[in-house]
This record gives sequence, structure tokens and C-alpha cells, in this order.
Amino acid sequence: MSTTFILLLLMTFMVIGEPITLATGERILTTEYDKEMVINCEEPNFFLAVTSNYSTEHKDRKWEFTCGLTSHIRVSEHRSRCSWSGYINQYERDLNEACGRRSGFIEGIRSIYKDYYGDRRWSFYCCYNDDYTISRCKTTDQLNKYQGRLNYRFQDGYVLRGVSSVHNNNYKDRIFTFEVCSLDYVYPD
Ligand SMILES: *[C@@H]1O[C@H](CO)[C@@H](O)[C@H](O)[C@H]1NC(C)=O
Repeated sequence: MSTTFILLLLMTFMVIGEPITLATGERILTTEYDKEMVINCEEPNFFLAVTSNYSTEHKDRKWEFTCGLTSHIRVSEHRSRCSWSGYINQYERDLNEACGRRSGFIEGIRSIYKDYYGDRRWSFYCCYNDDYTISRCKTTDQLNKYQGRLNYRFQDGYVLRGVSSVHNNNYKDRIFTFEVCSLDYVYPD
């Protein structure tokens, strides 16, 4: 490696800055069985990890979201335009939602529960930022089995772009799948 290359590399890190070790304000948001849930990571935080457990007694899942900083994000310049979608699915129906337009990604999730159905309707907080683009999108495997535990950690630099799930009325539960993408800064021309 030439000295110039190393210098360039160093300068790149200085410009991109904000190494993940400096991240503050990492926090865990927890939901309750059978209750309305509103999860909003609040910028500049993204989802870092998600777990959820099923309770046969409550016919519902409890969720735990870890929000924090992901790399590749220039925190000082990360100002998104965000808005809530309506409730995407009907009770007991499959769900399929991606923040599709431009570089959309999900920073929040809300949901309402109805005992009669033992199920939830879901809504997503979609954010857009012209300084960022998403790429390398991929669909995860199914993240849980019916009534089983869900435990997902986002790869560093990856954000949530879509959520889909299939519902089963016998289990009164859903199997979830995420679409995740790398979020990359677009350098000005
Ligand atoms: C689910 O259960 C595991 C193991 O007991 C626990 O570590 C995790 O925090 C639980 N998650 C939720 C959302 O309750």
C-alpha cells in the first residue's frame, strides 16, 4: 500500500466519521401482549436487533427492539422525511409492505391487537433521505416458526425496508420475513 493510499483511507474515515463505538442513546423498546404498540426509533437511530416471543395464553407476541446507530451514516447530516403508512393488513390476512419509493426504509412500527381475532394490524414509519440510497437488498429466511421465538440482528449498515408475514389461524400467529438493504451515503457530484 502506498502512503498516498493510506492517507486517502484515513481522510475517508475522518470524513465519514462517527465510528459506531461512539454511538450513544442505544435503547431497547419493549411492547406488551395484547396492547397497542408504537415503536419509533427516532433518528438518527435504526433497528439494530429484534426479538419476539409468543404466548399461547395471550395469543400474541411480545416484541423487543434495539435502536441505535449503524455505520455508514453521517449522523449530523442524517435528516429524513418520514411518515406513517396506514394499517397495511386486515386481521388474519397476510402482510406485505416495503417502503418502496426511492430510498425508503423503516424506522418505526405500530400495531393494534384485537382479541377476537388473536391478531394484529400493522403500520410502518417509512423514511426517505435524498442523501442516501439503498442497495444490496435481500430477503431474510423466515425469522420464526409459528409460536416460536424470533431473534434477528441486523448486519451493520443494513436497514429494514420491508416486512412480510403469513398468518395461520390455528396457531393464532404469524411467520415474519424482513427485507433488508444496505443504506449508503450518496456523495455529491
Ligand atoms: C424472549 O425470550 C428470550 C429467552 O427467554 C429472552 O432473552 C428475550 O428477551 C425475550 N424477548 C421478549 C421480547 O420477550
